[in-house]
Amino acid sequence: MTNLVRVDASALPAAMSHSKQLADVFQTAWQAKNQGKVVVHTLADAPFKHLDGMLIGAMYTPADQRTAQQKIALETSDQLIAELKAASHLLITTPMYNFGIPSTLKSYLDQIARVGETFVYTEDGPKGLLSGCSATIIMSSGGDYTQPPLSAMDFVTPYLKTLLGFIGITEVAVVVAPGLGKGEEAVAAAMQQAKVSINKLF
Ligand SMILES: Cc1cc2nc3c(=O)[nH]c(=O)nc-3n(C[C@H](O)[C@H](O)[C@H](O)COP(=O)(O)O)c2cc1C
Repeated sequence: MTNLVRVDASALPAAMSHSKQLADVFQTAWQAKNQGKVVVHTLADAPFKHLDGMLIGAMYTPADQRTAQQKIALETSDQLIAELKAASHLLITTPMYNFGIPSTLKSYLDQIARVGETFVYTEDGPKGLLSGCSATIIMSSGGDYTQPPLSAMDFVTPYLKTLLGFIGITEVAVVVAPGLGKGEEAVAAAMQQAKVSINKLF
């Protein structure tokens, strides 16, 4: 079960995307240490469906009562969750867009955050079910949100950590490549630092 699920959220093609380049660095290091399967979702090329009434209705209908149509609606979610249940690590690479995550990443997360499958409600509150999986978040951004007061404007890493924790993924490493809008030298320095941080994870 040492499988990696890699989710890339940049809208840009690989040659132009800093976060996708860092994803490659991570994947190379991960594969040097692990024999398992790697599943890659390039969200800009193959986005997942937004939540709609059918999908929400299907998610909240007990499995043994679902209609044929509801079962079909859940096929993608079923597959994505099965991948995570078989994974030891989830890599999410994402740019900051308008202080938050790209909408394609939100759609992915909406497919995997599912009652009865990745979390349950208990007497003690919600409990995440993906406890066998850890995660790394790699975020690229034009500005630098690593220090206050700008850190309060980072709605990417706190949100992702919260959501992942909710579904049981509590061991989460964060690597940032900040300040990529500040010129070539700043980009080179941030990318170099991010690569060092990634390699230190292994
Ligand atoms: C639509 C859009 C919105 C962006 N919003 C922000 C933002 O709110 N804050 C920021 O620091 N950078 C912002 N950026 C800059 C990106 O985060 C930055 O260019 C990052 O490197 C993109 O990642 P990528 O190279 O992997 O595509 C934005 C870029 C785009 C295209």
